Amino acid sequence: MEKILITGGAGFIGSHVVRLFVNKYPHYQIYNLDKLTYAGNLENLKDVENKPNYHFIKGDIVDTNFINQLFEKHQFDAVIHLAAESHVDRSIHAPMDFIYTNIVGTANLLNAAKNIWAENMEGHRFYHISTDEVYGSLGNEGVFVETTPYSPHSPYSASKASSDHLVRAYHDTFGMPNVISNCSNNYGPNQFPEKLIPLFINNILHKKPLPVYGKGLNVRDWLYVEDHAKAIDTIFHNGKSGETYNVGGNNEWANIDLIKKLIEIVDEQLGNPQGTSLSLITYVKDRAGHDLRYAIDATKLRTTLGWEPTIKFAEGFYLTVKWYLNNQEWLQHVTSGDYQKYYEEMYANR
Ligand code: NAD
Ligand code: TYD
Repeated sequence: MEKILITGGAGFIGSHVVRLFVNKYPHYQIYNLDKLTYAGNLENLKDVENKPNYHFIKGDIVDTNFINQLFEKHQFDAVIHLAAESHVDRSIHAPMDFIYTNIVGTANLLNAAKNIWAENMEGHRFYHISTDEVYGSLGNEGVFVETTPYSPHSPYSASKASSDHLVRAYHDTFGMPNVISNCSNNYGPNQFPEKLIPLFINNILHKKPLPVYGKGLNVRDWLYVEDHAKAIDTIFHNGKSGETYNVGGNNEWANIDLIKKLIEIVDEQLGNPQGTSLSLITYVKDRAGHDLRYAIDATKLRTTLGWEPTIKFAEGFYLTVKWYLNNQEWLQHVTSGDYQKYYEEMYANR
């Protein structure tokens, strides 16, 4: 496989995947297709943008003609599909963006790949990156396995579930060599500060309230983003066509405990007396349809493909806080309109 299309490569997880592939596989040509929504940021990829095996394409996966022409032109060997609207709260306020990008966009990519691979599906790969949120919500006990029935509750998770079903259907119906992974919550550098961890770091820096939904007792299973990127590398190369792999950190935290730990580390690194920012915690109205608990059983990935997380939570959490504190300019850019200017200057004539 030589020409690989990575969609959503300017986003949080996508940028880590692009970096890993560009650096680890100089003989692959990596095409990063991204619409550059508010969540996409080419600053995330400054260190690889001049590498000869990296190519950026600005475009929208919802645009059927554009996607068909792009596949015709480049004849991609494989696709790693991460582009998505990804924030649950936004999906509650504006669900249609999620329906278009996550469902129609995925269908467009599947059709375009099917068209150019129709003669011979052999040797190709369509890898769809999905979420554990498709499985719904757990009580205090139990874990998600690959055969757990889907039970999505938010427009985000319902749109991802829908796209997963399409990917499976194209494998079963057309023999497309597809693979899916469903991962738990990621944390790490470059996450847009609308998700819990970077939002709270940014708010602590600006001494703004930290809005804890409900009682803060919802539980998430956190995985360091570089470990997810490594899992994607493993599954892309060794995953079996037609299979699904769960990816998770085996690292469950109730939100309020995670938030207190975060405050402790941020205060420590800012040189504040311990507990300074605890007073910013503000309990607010719960998210509608808020899933209580997610927990992933990643045994299949570990036993069949040998992947395991390498970064311990204490280390990953510390590295994450340090990255945001050392990259406050990045935080400013993505939270002001500055990024648009950067993009216009850098890419206006490409
Ligand atoms: P993100 O929101 O940070 O990035 C999404 C990227 O997709 C952005 O660069 C954006 O510009 C691009 N994009 C959005 N709409 C597009 C369109 N119509 N056409 C082309 N590009 C478009 O998301 P993320 O957190 O990096 O998540 C990446 C993938 O991983 C998503 O599919 C998400 O469902 C999945 N996932 C995320 C997590 C997590 O914790 N963040 C966990 C499991 C799975
Ligand atoms: P989030 O980062 O949005 O990820 P997801 O909803 O996909 O799990 O939220 C993580 C948890 O933190 C989730 O239970 C909702 C909660 N949360 C808050 O309490 N306050 C906030 O401001 C945000 C963004 C999230």
